[in-house]
Amino acid sequence: MPTLSARTAQPASVRTDALVVGVVRTAKGVAVVDAGADVQKAFGRGFVPMLASLGFEAKPGQVATLPSGHVLKTPVLVVVGMGDAADVDRERLRWAAALGVQTVTNAVSVSVALPLDGPDDVQAAGEGALLGLYSYERYRSGDDSDRPTDVVLIADKARTKDVTRAVEAAETVARAVCLARDWVNTPPNDLTPAVFAEAIASYSGKGKVTVEVLDDKALAKQRCGGILGVGQGSENPPRLVSVTYAPRRPAARIALVGKGITFDSGGLSLKPGKSMMTMKCDMSGAAAVVAATYAIAELGLPVAVTTYASLAENMPSGAATRPGDVLTMRNGRTVEVLNTDAEGRLVLADALDMAVEKEPDLVVDVATLTGAAVVALGTRVAAVLSNDEALLERVPEVADRAGEAMWPLPIPEEMQTKVTSSTVADLRQHNPEPAGGTLFAAAFLREFVRGSRWVHLDIAGPAHNDGEPFGYTPKGGTGSAVRTLVRLAQEIAGERLLDQRRAAR
Ligand code: BES
Ligand code: ZN
Ligand code: ZN
Repeated sequence: MPTLSARTAQPASVRTDALVVGVVRTAKGVAVVDAGADVQKAFGRGFVPMLASLGFEAKPGQVATLPSGHVLKTPVLVVVGMGDAADVDRERLRWAAALGVQTVTNAVSVSVALPLDGPDDVQAAGEGALLGLYSYERYRSGDDSDRPTDVVLIADKARTKDVTRAVEAAETVARAVCLARDWVNTPPNDLTPAVFAEAIASYSGKGKVTVEVLDDKALAKQRCGGILGVGQGSENPPRLVSVTYAPRRPAARIALVGKGITFDSGGLSLKPGKSMMTMKCDMSGAAAVVAATYAIAELGLPVAVTTYASLAENMPSGAATRPGDVLTMRNGRTVEVLNTDAEGRLVLADALDMAVEKEPDLVVDVATLTGAAVVALGTRVAAVLSNDEALLERVPEVADRAGEAMWPLPIPEEMQTKVTSSTVADLRQHNPEPAGGTLFAAAFLREFVRGSRWVHLDIAGPAHNDGEPFGYTPKGGTGSAVRTLVRLAQEIAGERLLDQRRAAR
């Protein structure tokens, strides 16, 4: 990851290899943002007509690269369109920073002048720049990337504690998102459940968290019939990894649970080839909860976190679970499996049961759970479902502040009835009618949370970008949900989001 720093300076006189400035539309026409005003001054009256002659109108997302012709101390100037000045918000800062630094090639250092009003803006721009510079190179031979490695944000009061902290927070959060992206992008032959568990346990920030790995024998001892049932068709046995962060005086205790299917072939209910092509991404939930836990620990937030990553490979074989099989889950409930491609809810159920055993104030699970969530909300919005009305409303707001799009969906009574309508077992795992697949899956999961406050994030859409890069989101793994989870912990710590529940204990 590139380095990030903040500096108080006049952009026209900074000496990095390139300079990025934001340009907005105002009532008086196109103008460089205040933070870069001296750049416009240095070029003089010809600057705006010059931009116009390049066809640059400061449309959101528009970029142009100009030689600075000795007018500035940097050889290259990149202008980034930010749209109407009145519409500039934090998300726009994130992607303007990303687009600017992405446009710079063959340069080591780049300065960024955007309208940063305080530490939160600094953090947003910093995250945008670092996330925008991400690329996954592990399997590429050939030249290294020519993207910049040092990003300098031009900001007021750059030496104050608040701004320094904001820069560090941006680095910590971006590092976590990029770690999740790396894990998602890793090919499934090189990220089996055992290898993924090893990677989680080898976290360099040791001392801040403790990690425990349950292998298949330990899972049998724990009666984790769901995880074992999903994993039994594969040569690569399942794992359940727990990561614990226990700060001294926590304001609350939360549990995170992630779906970690390292490859989802569908099992005996085999997927068509096309739907399988990106199914290495089916461990995105596990990647997100673990990476977010690391970040929460690194930030030293006063929230205790216990995280469970349920890792298995869903494969067809003579040993695989069949449609019609009945599994006994960790909580003793029996489940009739009707479609082995609906495996996520089975591995989550056991981990949720383990998580709520410790009576956390809140449990959040994250999963690429249903194709139906993609049908409902598209590929850029995650679904939020919950057994708590207030959280159903709050979590999408928290996500928005973190720069992620999430939207609430209901769990109607009808789905509860369907979950409990198996002809042979306590629960059925699959509803043969495809309508409302996301809601049915959530109703199934709810059976395993024993009345704990619970939020379910279905990230099947946003976890993996099959299309072209946009803003600060690359192709492939996106690190979806990491920023929301970190922000949620921050807001729980700050505003005591969960106070009521704690008082009742
Ligand atoms: N991993 C998939 C869901 C998925 C789909 C994730 C697209 C990312 C992109 C999940 O295990 C699955 O296959 N779900 C089935 C459930 C169905 C059989 C009830 C689905 O959504 O088709
Ligand atoms: Zn599946
Ligand atoms: Zn799956």
